[in-house]
Amino acid sequence: MDFMKIAKQRHSVRSYTKQKVESEKLALILEAAHVAPTAANAQPVRLLVVQSEEGLAKVSKAAGIYGAPLAIVVCADHARAWVCPFDKKQTCDIDASILTDHMMLQATELGLGSVWVCYFKPDVLREEFDLPDNLEPINILVLGYSNDKPGDTNRFDTQRIPLEELVSYDTF
Ligand SMILES: Cc1cc2nc3c(=O)[nH]c(=O)nc-3n(C[C@H](O)[C@H](O)[C@H](O)COP(=O)(O)O)c2cc1C
Repeated sequence: MDFMKIAKQRHSVRSYTKQKVESEKLALILEAAHVAPTAANAQPVRLLVVQSEEGLAKVSKAAGIYGAPLAIVVCADHARAWVCPFDKKQTCDIDASILTDHMMLQATELGLGSVWVCYFKPDVLREEFDLPDNLEPINILVLGYSNDKPGDTNRFDTQRIPLEELVSYDTF
């Protein structure tokens, strides 16, 4: 599938079947995360893959996961983060999000639905999974087989701001 087709086909899925994600597909999704770029190649990201009933129940205490059979908690590792010397900004949340996007698009290519979740209680995740202090949960990527209708691949004309508003050339 070509890239633009995958990008347009992806949409947020908020209803899932009970079907588990095959281990081969999960392996490809994790490989997509593994090859993602990070600032200075510092790789300050750790992934917590949650598939067990018990684990999903714990994630559900922190966030709505729409009955999905798989959630990947994407954590930034502040102990390994690259820091921009000019403004001291750590880029590990950006790195975590690049990995998340790679996984989400790979999942689309594999015929899986997904939704990116940031509306979660970080303290609950920290407590339920005993996260070390250096790890900060940034995103939860919810994955599974969609129980929703396919996304309209022509929806971007109405569901996104116009390209001319998004992009400026040479000057604002
Ligand atoms: C950083 C980020 C955080 C998001 N958090 C949530 C969330 O907590 N819950 C949710 O249902 N959707 C969440 N979404 C999904 C967006 O609402 C969705 O991508 C957006 O409305 C565009 O719709 P589409 O994904 O179907 O194209 C999030 C998306 C992004 C990129």
